[in-house]
Amino acid sequence: AFRAYPVHLHQKHLDFSSLQEIPDSHKWTQVDDERHPSVESFVTESVPVIDLLDPNVLQNIGHACKTWGVLQVTNHGIPISLLDNVESASRTLFCLPTQQKLKAARSPDGVSGYGVARISSFFSKLMWSEGFTIVGSPQEHFRQLWPQDYTKFCDVIEEYEKEMQKLARRLTWLVLGSLGITKKDLKWDGPKGESKESSAALQLNYYPACPDPDQAMGLAEHTDSTLLTILYQSNTSGLQVLKEGTGWVTVPPIPGGLVVNVGDLLHILSNGLYPSVLHRAVVNRTQHRLSIAYLYGPPSSVQISPLQKLVGPNHPPLYRPITWNEYLGTKAKHFNKALSCVRICA
Ligand code: SIN
Ligand code: FE2
Repeated sequence: AFRAYPVHLHQKHLDFSSLQEIPDSHKWTQVDDERHPSVESFVTESVPVIDLLDPNVLQNIGHACKTWGVLQVTNHGIPISLLDNVESASRTLFCLPTQQKLKAARSPDGVSGYGVARISSFFSKLMWSEGFTIVGSPQEHFRQLWPQDYTKFCDVIEEYEKEMQKLARRLTWLVLGSLGITKKDLKWDGPKGESKESSAALQLNYYPACPDPDQAMGLAEHTDSTLLTILYQSNTSGLQVLKEGTGWVTVPPIPGGLVVNVGDLLHILSNGLYPSVLHRAVVNRTQHRLSIAYLYGPPSSVQISPLQKLVGPNHPPLYRPITWNEYLGTKAKHFNKALSCVRICA
């Protein structure tokens, strides 16, 4: 019988260090699904790597978004030292004893804090990972974790959030630019012209080494409910994306590179031109893996709908207008069918 796991969980679901084998609760090979982790396609295609300083950046981004829904960027302006710092702060966090981390546990109906993957409640098996979600300032959580020196950790995270926000904005305009959309085509300002703040969250993921990686799943397949997501996956591979007609493709980490993927809301804005890429994370036997995702969305009160310029007599709007919050609610109700359930039926 299907048993969904509540997102607030007990220590036994988060303490992997003592496990020599995979418990039933984490065995994905028992799931009736041909896409379990050991199925990887033999592929020679790879996710496009785009230099943001290349003069053809707009075309390159447009092509990557259309054919893959995901790309890697280099020359993005985020200093390597900042990536190193946020990586080591995150490692320190995940290395704390489970008891200590649980002091910052996500509350049952909350978003931020420590716990299992947030999509766990949609699956009958648990994932081989732990996560820490940060919305806005990490102060409150970090004070509980490191009473003496929490400000040091907060500073790194806050600086990273600030830099990511700048990059996410820039990338959003590049992606929209590749669709022929300019700032004047998109009004996300309030009625009195005040500009609204975009919303975002930082998701730290940690995947412990796993005694039997073929049976376990680091993070089950999903699309992101964002405009776009910027992922730093450190130096260990594990991210895979599903390419239509090809299969699961591993996205290898490249030094200093960042993965950018199209989220559901950009898919809606583009009226279906840019696919919101289905992705997952697999685990490995020998190495722990860390990844840091910056989830970028529109201001919460803004309604997202297919851009006017992209709809016309031959291109009717495929999706109805929806705010980010409303979308998250719909997606939670119809997991994996979310995009189709905001679709306008002809
Ligand atoms: C994610 O989808 O949020 C993370 C994927 C990864 O760890 O590579
Ligand atoms: Fe994701």
